Amino acid sequence: MTTKKIILSGMRPTGKLHWGNYTGALENWFRLQEEYDCFFMAADWHVLTTALDKAAEIKQNTRDMILDWLGAGLDPENSVLFIQSQVKEHAELFLILSMCISMGRLERNPTFKEQVKDLDLKGEISFGHLGYPVLQAADIVVYRAHAVPVGEDQLPHIELTREMVRRFNNHFGEVFPEPEGMVTKFARFPGTDGKRMSKSLGNTIEISASPEEIKQKLMTAYTDPNRKRRDDPGDPEVCAVYTWYQKFMPEAAEETATECRTAARGCVDCKKKLLAGVTEYFGPLREKRAQFEANPALVDEIIQDGCSRARTAAQDTMARVRDAMNIG
Ligand code: TRP
Ligand code: SF4
Repeated sequence: MTTKKIILSGMRPTGKLHWGNYTGALENWFRLQEEYDCFFMAADWHVLTTALDKAAEIKQNTRDMILDWLGAGLDPENSVLFIQSQVKEHAELFLILSMCISMGRLERNPTFKEQVKDLDLKGEISFGHLGYPVLQAADIVVYRAHAVPVGEDQLPHIELTREMVRRFNNHFGEVFPEPEGMVTKFARFPGTDGKRMSKSLGNTIEISASPEEIKQKLMTAYTDPNRKRRDDPGDPEVCAVYTWYQKFMPEAAEETATECRTAARGCVDCKKKLLAGVTEYFGPLREKRAQFEANPALVDEIIQDGCSRARTAAQDTMARVRDAMNIG
């Protein structure tokens, strides 16, 4: 029997992962694998809560995302890499947990309120969208996870999960641990336009991008807008390129800042140097990903094995749930 604590985290499969996903989540997942028993999930049902028309793309996007995970070193021998929709117990527990939370509480969920505003969904909000955090709670507690590594924006969902757990445990006994959010501390990671890197803003660079693709995006990327001529001094603190140095070439960051401030280095040279650094940084990931991609049977097997291990764990929890509730 293992005594390691259990972690579950998930990502919605929306395509290939980018530098922001890497810095905000994937890199952290990689590090947690040693210390915890990890379940990493492709949350494919969750994609449907806001975009039914994306259904046709989900399979390919899930595959691309899992290849990125494998490329980044998630270890399928050790961690459980799986797909939400392949473990039906999530749906059963979703139904039960939906009785453990009020409508009003879900309507007050800040993430939900923001999405309704941003997506301009007025009047077209699905029941499943309102229930997004209930499905997420089921994802977490069906593995009786102790901790959930997430970005800050997901903390309201963890709080809701804890409320559902308390409600359930109060009625039926201590079946679930109250999971803790583990916030991945990362400074707001900029995209090529200097705004937060996000697929919806079209400002991403994929972790599997070729050197040529990286170069194209880098060369037009946002720098200090006040640095108009080559001999103007720059301010690295407002420059996306400098943040990327800090993340991917920390050993060169200080020199970069100095040479930027004194105009000893021009932006074109600065980007060329970064290009060499990030190409080297992501090279091994790209190579590893390509090896998996060239062996689809192996990837199928990894996914099937992950889903089957997840199912075994989830079935065990559901047996306890039914037993505690005295149903089924
Ligand atoms: N809501 C998460 C996101 O958008 C994805 C997710 C689904 C998740 N289920 C989860 C994250 C369970 C952590 C735990 O990023
Ligand atoms: Fe940014 Fe480098 Fe140009 Fe300074 S020199 S503004 S850090 S790209």
